[in-house]
Amino acid sequence: TNRTFTMLKPDSVEKGHIGAILQMINKAGFRIVSIKMTQMTTADAEAFYAVHKERPFFGELVEYMTRGPIVAAILEKENAVEDFRTLIGATNPADAAEGTIRKLYAASIGENAVHGSDSDENAAIEGAFHFSGREMF
Ligand code: GTP
Ligand code: MG
Repeated sequence: TNRTFTMLKPDSVEKGHIGAILQMINKAGFRIVSIKMTQMTTADAEAFYAVHKERPFFGELVEYMTRGPIVAAILEKENAVEDFRTLIGATNPADAAEGTIRKLYAASIGENAVHGSDSDENAAIEGAFHFSGREMF
């Protein structure tokens, strides 16, 4: 068993998709370890996505991720990181497989509904960015 970290991004919250997406996550066998609604500051988003800071879309990405609240969560399942990336689908919803969260709920590559950690190491870093030990169950 291991863990991944997710955010339901501002577009998911704005469109009322929190419940539907959490239901898909639970039905896929993930256990919720931590969860909260929160809003990232510009400094938070710049730090969280620092790996992308030289990319042309960085400014847009920070603007998007800070424009409203998100739902942050730590999820537990065997093979969590890889299985969650499969559940969410490709970064660009146009390329995402049928039945994936991004295929169902993402509008575009720039507004793609959910985040999923890309490695066990990043899952731990990203989870700790949003939650203290006392918020992990
Ligand atoms: P995350 O789970 O959010 O990390 O997405 P990912 O791992 O599928 O993609 P990646 O880490 O490469 O990119 C991070 C985020 O940057 C994406 O989820 C998008 O929100 C955004 N992004 C990536 N490419 C583009 C792009 O070409 N244009 C815009 N506007 N945003 C992009
Ligand atoms: Mg990524």
